[in-house]
Amino acid sequence: MWLRYQRRLLGMPRLQFPLLNRSLEVALGQRLLDVCEAHGIPMDAACGGFAACNTCRVCIIEGELSPLEESEEPFLDRPDQRLACQAYVVGDLCLNLDPGA
Ligand code: FES
Repeated sequence: MWLRYQRRLLGMPRLQFPLLNRSLEVALGQRLLDVCEAHGIPMDAACGGFAACNTCRVCIIEGELSPLEESEEPFLDRPDQRLACQAYVVGDLCLNLDPGA
């Protein structure tokens, strides 16, 4: 609990990818796609991050990202899905890759 509070104060949320057995601490406000690319998380981004291909889709297990962008809606089947190229880190997060293409 204390460590979680400290990370939040320092703006270093923890991102967990249980299926990849990976855990990262990242700066608040980073785009999720950029975080994955910087840390070697295998994520496709066929359209280059312009919300046009659906290959960067993730499934949120726990936590939240920045508010849903209108540009994402056509690509999402469920409320727990997001496009990593349109979502920003706002706190601790547990997620899986869920490419839709
Ligand atoms: S990289 Fe194409 S939709 Fe996100």
